[in-house]
Amino acid sequence: MTHEVVVIEGDGIGREVVPAAIEVLEALPVDFEFVAAEAGDAVEEQTGEALPAETYERAADADATLFGAAGESAADVILPLREAVDSFVNVRPATAYPGVDALRPETDVVFLRENTEGVYAGHEDRLSEDLSTLTRVVTSSASREIAEFACEFVEDGRGPDGDRDEGFTVAHKANVMRETDGRFREEVLAVAEERGVDADEELMDAFATKLPLDPNQYGVIVCPNLAGDVLSDLAAGLVGGLGLLPSANVGHDNALFEPVHGTAPDIAGEGIANPTAAILSAAMLSEYLGHVEEGQRVRDAVEVVLSDGPRTGDLGGDATTDEVTAAIVDRL
Ligand code: NAI
Ligand code: MG
Repeated sequence: MTHEVVVIEGDGIGREVVPAAIEVLEALPVDFEFVAAEAGDAVEEQTGEALPAETYERAADADATLFGAAGESAADVILPLREAVDSFVNVRPATAYPGVDALRPETDVVFLRENTEGVYAGHEDRLSEDLSTLTRVVTSSASREIAEFACEFVEDGRGPDGDRDEGFTVAHKANVMRETDGRFREEVLAVAEERGVDADEELMDAFATKLPLDPNQYGVIVCPNLAGDVLSDLAAGLVGGLGLLPSANVGHDNALFEPVHGTAPDIAGEGIANPTAAILSAAMLSEYLGHVEEGQRVRDAVEVVLSDGPRTGDLGGDATTDEVTAAIVDRL
C-alpha cells in the first residue's frame, strides 16, 4: 500500500532538515509517495500567500504531511495546516538521549496538548483604548476527545518506557479557572475512569516546579492548549535543545508532523542544522501510518548516532547535516 505524504520544507533550515528526514524515510522498506508543496515566507514573497490554497488542499487530502518550518509567516502557515488535517491533539515527546548534555538526563515524557480551543480559540477583542479581553473556550466534546486519545495512547503502550505505572497525568488550573479547566479536568478524568486507565492530576503551576525537580515522576501528560504549549517547551529545556524535538498534530484520519524548532535564521543555509528533530518527526509519521517497527528502527538509529556521533554544532560537534543523516541511514 502506497502512502501519500505531502512534504512542505518551508523556509530556512526547513529546506535542510526535511530533505534529511525524507532520505531516512526512503531508506525504510515502506512505500511512500512524496508530494512536494510550498508554504512560508518565500512563497509569500512570490505569490502574496504564505499558505497557498493548493498546499492546504494537498495536506487535507494526503495520508500525512511532513512540515519543516516557516519564518515570520509561521502562524499563518501552521494554524491553518493543523486545521487542514483536522488535528485535535498535539503530541510532543521530550526524551533526553544518552550522549546529549541534558539538564535532566532522566527526562522521558510525552505531552498530549489539546489543539483546538482554550485561549487559542481566537476570540480576542479590543473593547476600548484601555481594555482588551480574551474568551477561553472549553467544550466537553474536545476534552473527551483528547482524553480518549490519551487512553488509547497509554493502552497501546506508546507512552515512555520507564518504571512508572501506565496511565497519564492531567495538568490544569481548575482551582482558579473553575468553569473552563473545571470542565476539562472533569471530562478527562471521567473518560479515564470509564476506560479503566489510571489518571492522576496536577495543578499546572505546581507541575512546572515538580517536572524539572523530578521528571521521573511523569510519563504521559495531558494539558489544555496554552498549558501544553508552555509546559512542553519547559520539558524541551530539560532534554538538551530544540534540534531534538519532534511533534505530531493528529486528526481523525490525517496528521501533520513537524520538528518543534523554527527556521533557525542564524544558521540557515550553512548545512549545519541538526536533522534529528525532523528525522524523529518522520519516525512518528511512519508509526502513524502503521509502520511501528520501522519508526522504532529510526529512533534506535538516531539514539546510537546521538550517543556515538557524529554530532552537529548545537550538540557540541562539528558535523554537517548530511554527515549526521548519512550516519543515521547507515545504522538503519
Ligand atoms: P528557532 O527554533 O528557529 O531557533 C532558536 C535557536 O535554536 C537558534 O539559535 C537556532 O539556531 C537553534 N536551532 C533551532 N533548530 C535547530 C536545529 N535543528 N539545529 C541546530 N540549531 C537549531 O526559533 P526562533 O529563532 O525563535 O525563530 C526563528 C524563525 O522561525 C522565526 O521567523 C519564527 O517565526 C519561526 N518559527 C517557526 C516555527 C514553525 O514553523 N513551526 C516554530 C518556531 C519558530
Ligand atoms: Mg510553542
